[in-house]
Amino acid sequence: AEPLRIALAGLGTVGAGVIRLLAANAALVRSRAGREIRIVAVSARDRVRDRGVDLSAFDWCDDMAAMASRDDVDAVVEMVGGADGPALTLAKTAIRQGKALVTANKAMIAHHGLELARAAEERGVPLKFEAAVAGGIPVIKGLREGAAANAIARVQGILNGTCNFILSTMEDTGRDFADVLAEAQALGFAEADPSFDIDGIDAGHKLAILAAIAFGARLDFAHVSCEGIGAVRAADIARARDLGFVIRLVGEADVDAGPPGAAPARLLQRVRPCLVPQAHPLAHVDGPTNAVVAEGNFSGRLLFQGAGAGDGPTASAVVADLIDIARSTMDGREAGPAFSVPVGELLAMEPA
Ligand code: HSE
Repeated sequence: AEPLRIALAGLGTVGAGVIRLLAANAALVRSRAGREIRIVAVSARDRVRDRGVDLSAFDWCDDMAAMASRDDVDAVVEMVGGADGPALTLAKTAIRQGKALVTANKAMIAHHGLELARAAEERGVPLKFEAAVAGGIPVIKGLREGAAANAIARVQGILNGTCNFILSTMEDTGRDFADVLAEAQALGFAEADPSFDIDGIDAGHKLAILAAIAFGARLDFAHVSCEGIGAVRAADIARARDLGFVIRLVGEADVDAGPPGAAPARLLQRVRPCLVPQAHPLAHVDGPTNAVVAEGNFSGRLLFQGAGAGDGPTASAVVADLIDIARSTMDGREAGPAFSVPVGELLAMEPA
């Protein structure tokens, strides 16, 4: 079969991770994708920076949108970041040009996911964003496909590795907040603007996407209530422990369907520091880790856990999406919708 020819936009840690993964696992990826996944072009702001990967085999493009329009590109991988700006321009251009789009950009999907998904459906191209939620954990695929036969009543998750690292390290060592935040930044999993982590916005972006997938609801970031961890003190953590709880930043989405035939279902979406009882699976998630718990009406409780950030885990999710696309679009077939159902069939839910 013909190779799936891809263009990478944004060469930060995730972009370099994708290049490394495709080289290291080339034979495995090829057999699972049914064809070669071949990088043909790359683009980033800084051409000269050493990323520890060899870019010489790829065409360097100064203009990302022009790269997304190239005839020899089948799929664009957006790893630029930011809800709007160049990332959104690139995403819209790629879809308009009939390219498949893979993105790791949770802010962009949280704010513009419906519009992009609608454009992708109209154009008949795949839009995939596994890497946008919980890094290397295949939670979008897990809920969208693995748990597709279930009505899901509730999703809860630890969706920000930086906050989880800070809270669990404060708990283990008694160190103060600012000191541990500086370490998270040095380790490279905090956002460029760490207020997105600390204030619960990053977790809120991911929760809105998860809720849309889990409930087949219209993505609705405007109704996610976000409270961060800035006010959590070491003394609060110690007191919680004495009472048998840990403090974690938890994102939670619940559906209240109400009586049959009554008003539309209500969707509650919130991110806030929670007292998690020791017996709950989320109480044992430590370090820069993410976890998601979902309750399916036939599957029972599902627990997804793993690395929510970092080059290897996030690249793993990006390449999984590329493998999906390589298979699902082979021989001119069309890919399925970006969300659980086509955009027009997503449920409009009232905020609870
Ligand atoms: N800043 C994010 C986190 C990175 O700490 O989880 C992954 O989205």
